[in-house]
Amino acid sequence: MSNVFRVVLVDPDDSTREEIKSVLLSIESIWLEADCSRYEFFTDIVKQTTPEIGMINIDSDPEKGVELIQKVNEEYPQAILMVVSSSADGQLILSAMRSGAQEFFNLPLSSSEVNAALSRIRSKQSGSGDASGENSRVIAVGGVSGGVGSTSIAVNLAAALASNPNRSIVLIDLDVSLGDADIFLDSIPEYTLADVTQNIDRLDLALLKKSLTKHESGVYLLPRPVQLQDNEGINPEDLSRVIGLLKSSFTHLVFDLSKSYSRLDEVALRAATDVLLITQLDLPCLRNVVRLLMSFEEYVGLKEKTKIVVNRAGLDSGQISMNKAQETIGGEFYWQIPNDYGLMVDVRNNGVPLVIQAPKASITRSIVEMGEKLNGDLQSDENNEATLEKKPQKKGIFGFLKK
Ligand SMILES: Nc1ncnc2c1ncn2[C@@H]1O[C@H](COP(=O)(O)OP(=O)(O)O)[C@@H](O)[C@H]1O
Ligand SMILES: [Mg+2]
Repeated sequence: MSNVFRVVLVDPDDSTREEIKSVLLSIESIWLEADCSRYEFFTDIVKQTTPEIGMINIDSDPEKGVELIQKVNEEYPQAILMVVSSSADGQLILSAMRSGAQEFFNLPLSSSEVNAALSRIRSKQSGSGDASGENSRVIAVGGVSGGVGSTSIAVNLAAALASNPNRSIVLIDLDVSLGDADIFLDSIPEYTLADVTQNIDRLDLALLKKSLTKHESGVYLLPRPVQLQDNEGINPEDLSRVIGLLKSSFTHLVFDLSKSYSRLDEVALRAATDVLLITQLDLPCLRNVVRLLMSFEEYVGLKEKTKIVVNRAGLDSGQISMNKAQETIGGEFYWQIPNDYGLMVDVRNNGVPLVIQAPKASITRSIVEMGEKLNGDLQSDENNEATLEKKPQKKGIFGFLKK
C-alpha cells in the first residue's frame, strides 16, 4: 500500500543504537516503529508491532544475535531481517544470512546502503505484485490568495476520492492558525496536528489512527491545533515523520496548505506527488500564480508537479478571459471548477461534502472528475518525490515571501 517501511531495531549498546537510530530517522521512507535494548524482548516486540523490517545489531553477543535472527525468522517470517555489525568476518556474515538475514550492513551504518537495500526490496515486491510496493499519493492543495477556494477544493476532493472504497484518505489541515477543514466536515476532533507532533517519539500507527477523526465520507481528518500557542511546537522535522507514518497507512494524503507558504507548507510541497495551485481569474491571483511558479523553480521537480486549477470558472465580474489568463501565466490550466456559491456555502455550513449532499451537481462532478484525472496522472508520476531536491545555489524559495 505504501513505500514507507516500518522498522523495529534491537541493539543492547546505547551508543551504537543511537547512532543507528539517527541514520534510520534521516531516511524518509523509514518509520522507526520501536527500538529495544534487549535481545530477549525483540521477538515479542516484532510480533506485536508487525514491522516490515527487523534490524539487529549482533555485536553485543554475536552468538545470541544469530540465534535471534533464526528465532524471529521462524516466529515472524513476514519481517525482512537486516543485520548490523562492526565485524566483516565472512563466517559471521554467512551464518547470519543462513539464519534468515536478508541484508548485512557494516557499522558505521550508511544511509545510502540502507536506501539501496530498500530499493532492492521494493523492486522484489513490485515484481511479485505485492501491493505494499505501491506509493501513496500525496496531494497538496494551495491557494494563490485568501478565499480562492483551496479548503473547499481540498475537502471536497478528499471526500470525492474517498467514495472509492479501495482508497483510504487522510486530510491534513496545514493552515495551522486559521484552518477550517473541521467545519467543512462538521467534526469536533479530539486530537490535532499539535498533539500528534508533540507525541512523535511514542507515536505508532495504532495511536496515530486513534488520533484521527473519521468522517462519514470515509475521510480521516488531522485538524489544525486549537490554540494559536500550540503552533510553535509543530516543527518541520516532526511533520515530515508524521507524513511518513501516514503514508504507511493511507493511499492518499490531501493537504490543505496555509497561505503563508511556511516551513510546514514546504514540507508538504516536498512530500507531494502533486501540487494543486488554486486560482481565480483576476489580476491579483494571476500575478501570484506567476510569482509562485517562479519561486517553485528553485526546487527540482516542484514546478513540474504543480497543476494550476481555476476555481469559480464562469464568475463574470472582474474576471479575465481564460485565453488571456493562460497567456499571462505562460501555461495551461489543468482543470476548471465551475462557480456555484450557493451550493459551496451550503455544504460548508452543513458540514457535508458535495459528494454526499449534491452528488449530481456540476461542481461535484467536476471535482470528482478532477480527482480521477489526478489519480490516473499520478500512476505515471511515481518518481516525483524522489527527484525533488532543493537546488543548492539559491536561497530558500519562501524567503522572499517572509518579512
Ligand atoms: N467553486 C466555487 N464556487 C463558488 N464559491 C466557492 C467556490 N469555491 C469556494 N467558494 C467559496 O469561496 C469562499 C472561500 O473558500 P475557501 O475554500 O474557504 O477558500 P480558501 O481556503 O482558499 O481561503 C467560501 O465562501 C466558499 O464557499
Ligand atoms: Mg482555507
